[in-house]
Amino acid sequence: MKESLIDRYAVMGNPVAHSRSPDIQLAFAAQTGQHMSYERLLIPLDHFVDHVQKFREQGGHGLNITVPFKMQAHALAHDPDLHIQLTERAALAGAANTLRFDNQANEEVISADNTDGVGLVRDIQRLGFSLQAQRILLLGAGGAARGVIGPILAERPLSLTIANRNIDRAQVLVQIFSDVAQNVALTASTFADLSGQHFDIIINATSASLSGTSLALPDTIFVDTSLAYDMMYGATPTEFLRNASRLGTKRIADGLGMLVEQAAESFYFWRGLRPDTLPVHAQMRSALQTGD
Ligand code: ATR
Repeated sequence: MKESLIDRYAVMGNPVAHSRSPDIQLAFAAQTGQHMSYERLLIPLDHFVDHVQKFREQGGHGLNITVPFKMQAHALAHDPDLHIQLTERAALAGAANTLRFDNQANEEVISADNTDGVGLVRDIQRLGFSLQAQRILLLGAGGAARGVIGPILAERPLSLTIANRNIDRAQVLVQIFSDVAQNVALTASTFADLSGQHFDIIINATSASLSGTSLALPDTIFVDTSLAYDMMYGATPTEFLRNASRLGTKRIADGLGMLVEQAAESFYFWRGLRPDTLPVHAQMRSALQTGD
C-alpha cells in the first residue's frame, strides 16, 4: 500500500515510551480494516503547541494527548489562530485527550474531546455494574478525577462524594459540576469524614498507586462495596485494591479496561466506527502479565 493512503495518528506525551496507545489503536485499525499509522511522539515540555501545529501541517489526522499535556490541549481552544472546537465533556473536564483534524470546505477545523470519563463508565458497565441510583465515592480531586465526573453524573447515581486529602480541591470540583449534577447529591469530603459512610462503588482517581503509597481511608467504608476500581493498573493489584478486597469489597478492577475503552471512544471520534474492545482487553491484559 502507498504511504499516502495511510492516515496518520499519534500519541503525544512526556514521557511517552510506556504508552500502550499504539498497540491498542493499531489493533482496532486491523480489526476494522482502517488504513492508519500510529506512533509515539515524545514532546519537549515547552513545545506542545508547536508540535501540534507541525503534526497538523504535515497532514496528520488525529492525536491522543497524554501526561502532562491534557490541560494544554484543552487550553488550545483559547488560541484564536487554531479554530478549535471543544466537545462539551472536554470543556467540563478542563482537559482534552483526543484531537481530530478535519478539512471542511477548505478550512482546517480541530476538534478536541475527552474520552477518559466515558472510558471509565463503559468499563464499569462491561464489568456488569450500573452507576444508576448507586452511592459513588470518587477518591482524588486532580486532573484524573475531574476528567471522569461529568460522565459519572450523566449515569444518574444517587450520590457522588468526592473525597480528597486536600478538601479545597474537592470543593472546587463540586462547584464546577454543581450545574450538571441535577438530582445527584454531589458533596466534597476529607478522607477522615468518610468514617461511618457506605458506598456501592469506590473509584480511586488519586495518583497514590503510582508511588505505591496507601490512602489514609477509614477501613469501614469498604464493607458494603460491590466494586472498588483503581484507575491505575499494573501486573498485580494496587495497594488500594488489595486493601479494598481485604476490607470486604466484593469485586476489584484496575484501570486497564478504562484505557482500552477510552481508546475505543477516541477511535470512534476519529473514524466513526466502534471496534470490538473485548479481544483487545484480553490482548492488553496478557501483554501486561508477560511484561511485553
Ligand atoms: P492527576 O492529573 O493524576 O489527577 P494531580 O492533579 O497531581 O494528578 O492529582 C493527584 C491526586 O492524587 C490529588 O487528588 C492528590 O491529592 P491532593 O490534592 O491532596 O494532593 C492525590 N494524591 C496523590 N498522592 C496521594 C496520597 N499519598 N494520599 C492521598 N492523596 C494523594
